[in-house]
Amino acid sequence: MADQNSVESMSLAINGAKESAMSAIKNTADLAGLRALSADLNKKDSPLNSFKSEMGKLSSVDDKRSIGQLLNAAAGEIAAALETRTREFADNEIAARIEQESLDLTEFLVQRRRGHSHIVTQATQRLEDVFIGLGFQIAEGPEVETDFHNFEALNMPKSHPARSEFDTMFLEYGEPNSVLLRTHTSPVQIRVMKTWKPPIYAIMPGRVFRRDTPDATHMPVFHQIEGLVIDRGITFAHLAGTIEAFTKAFFGNEFTSRLRPSFFPFTEPSAEFDIRRADGEWIELGGCGMVHPNVLISGGIDPEEFSGFAFGFGIDRMAKERHKVEDIREMYTNDLRFLRQF
Ligand code: DAH
Repeated sequence: MADQNSVESMSLAINGAKESAMSAIKNTADLAGLRALSADLNKKDSPLNSFKSEMGKLSSVDDKRSIGQLLNAAAGEIAAALETRTREFADNEIAARIEQESLDLTEFLVQRRRGHSHIVTQATQRLEDVFIGLGFQIAEGPEVETDFHNFEALNMPKSHPARSEFDTMFLEYGEPNSVLLRTHTSPVQIRVMKTWKPPIYAIMPGRVFRRDTPDATHMPVFHQIEGLVIDRGITFAHLAGTIEAFTKAFFGNEFTSRLRPSFFPFTEPSAEFDIRRADGEWIELGGCGMVHPNVLISGGIDPEEFSGFAFGFGIDRMAKERHKVEDIREMYTNDLRFLRQF
C-alpha cells in the first residue's frame, strides 16, 4: 500500500520535473543558454536523475519497471526537445548570417536610374506615330539649305517682304547670302515634291534656326513639323478634316480645331489653326493652306493635274503647352531635375 502511494507520487513528481524541464527548454534565449540547461539536466543530481536512486528503493519489481519506463520516456522526450531547439537556434543563426552578409543591391538600382528621351524627342515621336497612323510617310531634309529651297521655291523671291519675318542666319559659303540655316521645315516640301511622285502624304520633322534672342517663348534653335499632301482633287475640306483628325488623335477626343484666315506666301488660301481644350481655351498651333501653284511648279508638279495642302507648326511650343512649361529655355539648359519630370 505504502509502495503504491509512493509509486503514484513518484510518477506525478517525475511528470512535474519533466514538464518544468520541457518549459525551460522552450524558454531558452540562445544556443549558449540551451547548452547550459542541457548540462544541468544531465547532472547526476538533477531532479529527474535523482529519481533513479529513488526507484532503487522500491520493493516491487513491477513498480520498478513502471517507474523505469516513465523515467526513460521522460528522458527521451527531453532529449528530443533539446535536439529540436538546438536545430532551431542553428537555423536562425544561419538565416541571420545570410541576411547580414547579403549585398543590398537596391541602392545600386536607384542610383543607376535609366535615362529617357528628351521632352521634345518624345513629342516628335508621338507626332510621327499619329501621322503614320493617318497614312503619312516621314521625310527629312538638310539643316543647311540654299536660299532657293528656303525662300525662292516657296514663292518668296529676293525682294519679298515675307523674307524679313524670318530672321535668317546665313553661312559664309558660296555666293553671299545663298546658303543658310533653314528657318523652317517648309523647304523639305520642295525636296519631297522633286524626288517623290504624287500621291504624296508626307510629314517632315526637324530642327530649324532663327536669329532670335532666347526668352521665355523663343529659342534661336527649335523644332517644327511640316505636313504635305499632293494628290488629285485635294480640297480645303481635306485640309480641315486632316487637322481635326490629327487634333483628336494627338491631344484627345475632347479637343477640337479651327482655322482662321491668314497669309503665307507658299499657300493660297492660307490659314492659321488653333486647337480648343476641354476647358474652352484656344491655343494657336501653326499655319496651313492650299499649296500655291507657284510652289507646285517649283517642285516639278503640274498644278492643272494635282492640288495639295500643307501645314507646319512648332514642336517645342506644343510640348511647352502640353506640359505647362513656363519658360521654353528650361527645355535646353539640361537640368536633370527639370528633364526627369517628363
Ligand atoms: N513655315 C511656316 C513658318 O515657319 C509655317 C507654315 C505655314 C508651314 C503654312 C506651312 C504652311 O506648310 O502651309 O512660320
